[in-house]
Amino acid sequence: MDSKQFAALLNEDRRFPPPAEFAARANVADESLYEQAARDREGFWAAQAERLHWFRRWDKVLEWNPPFAQWFLGGKLNVAYNCLDRHLQTHTRTKAAIIWEGEPGDERVLTYLDLHREVCRFANVLRQMGVGKGDRVTIYLPMIPEAAVAMLACTRIGAIHSVVFGGFSAESLRDRINDSRSKVVVTADGGWRRGNIIRMKQIVNEAVVDCASVEKVIVVKRIGHESLVEHGWHPGRDHWYHTLMRNAPVTCPVEEMDAEDPLFILYTSGSTGKPKGVLHTTGGYLTQVAATTKYVFDLKDEDVYWCSADIGWITGHSYVIYGPLANGATTLMYEGAPDYPDRGRIWEIIQKYRVNIFYTAPTLIRSFMRWGEGWPSKYDLSSLRLLGTVGEPINPEAWMWYHKHIGGERCPIVDTWWQTETGAIMATPLPGVVHTKPGSTTRPFPGIEMAVVNEEGQEVPPGAGGYLVVKSPWPSMLRTVWGDPDRYVSTYFGRFGHQVYFTGDGAKRDEDGYYWIIGRVDDVINVSGHRIGTMEVESALVDHPLVAEAAVIGRSHAVKGQAITAFVTLKEGRRGTPDLVDELKQHVVTKIGALARPEEIYFAADLPKTRSGKIMRRLLRDIAEGRALGDTTTLADPNVVAQLRQQYESQE
Ligand code: WTA
Repeated sequence: MDSKQFAALLNEDRRFPPPAEFAARANVADESLYEQAARDREGFWAAQAERLHWFRRWDKVLEWNPPFAQWFLGGKLNVAYNCLDRHLQTHTRTKAAIIWEGEPGDERVLTYLDLHREVCRFANVLRQMGVGKGDRVTIYLPMIPEAAVAMLACTRIGAIHSVVFGGFSAESLRDRINDSRSKVVVTADGGWRRGNIIRMKQIVNEAVVDCASVEKVIVVKRIGHESLVEHGWHPGRDHWYHTLMRNAPVTCPVEEMDAEDPLFILYTSGSTGKPKGVLHTTGGYLTQVAATTKYVFDLKDEDVYWCSADIGWITGHSYVIYGPLANGATTLMYEGAPDYPDRGRIWEIIQKYRVNIFYTAPTLIRSFMRWGEGWPSKYDLSSLRLLGTVGEPINPEAWMWYHKHIGGERCPIVDTWWQTETGAIMATPLPGVVHTKPGSTTRPFPGIEMAVVNEEGQEVPPGAGGYLVVKSPWPSMLRTVWGDPDRYVSTYFGRFGHQVYFTGDGAKRDEDGYYWIIGRVDDVINVSGHRIGTMEVESALVDHPLVAEAAVIGRSHAVKGQAITAFVTLKEGRRGTPDLVDELKQHVVTKIGALARPEEIYFAADLPKTRSGKIMRRLLRDIAEGRALGDTTTLADPNVVAQLRQQYESQE
């Protein structure tokens, strides 16, 4: 967010009380949850945990040895049991668990009974392959029901899943498989994206060549074109999903898991080095995910709920799969792009399935704005009663557009702030209670204690900006970084001591106690709601034989929130050309994935550095955003900036 946008935020004084009709039926319609949690935080979370099925009740709610937390100690439960089996004892058994729409328009509906059967079958398949409690399984799939089946099957037998977003390259996939040392990879022959085929099995082939841990690759036939699998099929290693499933028994006993047993690993970008494997555990994660889904989305038995996130991200884990299913809800999954075959696809799906709750990212809302209200106005969106956003700050203008053109001015908007590391929603309005302000995530969820602090860790007065921190442990917090506990401590509990979790975000708290998230204050770029580390892109660039040095920054972008801008110095005697720009962009795509493709690359004779040799990113950001330059007095060679500036202006 640039300074002008931020200044506009501070002046935002529109308020939206919960619509009376909504509040009258809301799951939470008064302050009681907040009061209960303020009186007895652990008691509040224990009450939420009670809503799950436990094979054995916990002995102790929280053990806090800063910075390591354990929740519901001694408790035994199983996530798949909570998401499936227990619903088979009620009328929910015949209700739709997943409504799925494929990009080409194919449809599938799985009831809870259906999903349970498929999950049991696949759990048996995994067991037959020697996968047991604590083993890792990498899931690299498009948005198809088999992704949910694979995740739930892992949890049923206590295996730890690591879902890798289908847009990542073979190299990124390989690094994640190796870091987690997965035994099995579950993938598909391919996936649809805007009518094109992504050759996923081929990407897996390239990745697993260098993965000693991988014993089996299971392939879902999504596309069905022979050409996708005619090369690189390894008998013994590779198996068709449908063949394995045909013979698998439809019952499968669940593994009784300890509350603190690992549930899944999800890789995310940080400010330094390679992506971190964020580890979530069983009891605390499911407790907070289930509670937030019920209260934040005001879930009712009859709702059709749609979170448009991909399962490759934490939002897909918590709010496409685990949260809705733990609540016995109907969750919609859509495989494809929002603008395929046309820009009305999302609204067509909402109309077709009478979706009641829609949860998406601000970047998509800004695209919708660009495409114009003509698209949504062609469809009947009257089934919608609640809207949500997640992933990045939403500018008040986009919030108002969403409110007016999608919500018909009758749907509350929940702007939910949270992270891969927090596992579940941390700050959000409760839609039947909290008055919203466009651009603000409003209040911490009950039982969550947040603050905005200065460099020294002291809380700043209302209205002042600072670092967003969480002051006490919460059930769905990450437990560690897979294989690297030191990194867990230094990244999240290094800055303000072991008691206080540092989010990496800047924020402001206003006089009403409402939080306004400004964005990342570390070297993480948020492109269309996806986290990318500047270091990752820099390493990909310097990996190219012609590149000597690279500096990468996030600049503000009208639709994506932020875009990646790279400044590159070339090796002696090399000249930057438009062809080389394309080549370097492609190089980053090959190394990381299309989501990390730089928007623009500038060549520089040198990069602006402080006298101690640190790259001055702030200056680069000023240049990329066309702003007057700030303080350059610490700069070693002021000519560097003048040259960069000139080049930027000549390319505009
Ligand atoms: C940003 C996504 C403003 C923030 C669930 C955070 C937000 C990062 C919001 C985490 C929001 C997420 N308002 N910013 N409502 N939600 N963010 O791990 O910078 O992919 O640190 O988790 O997204 O991204 P992640």
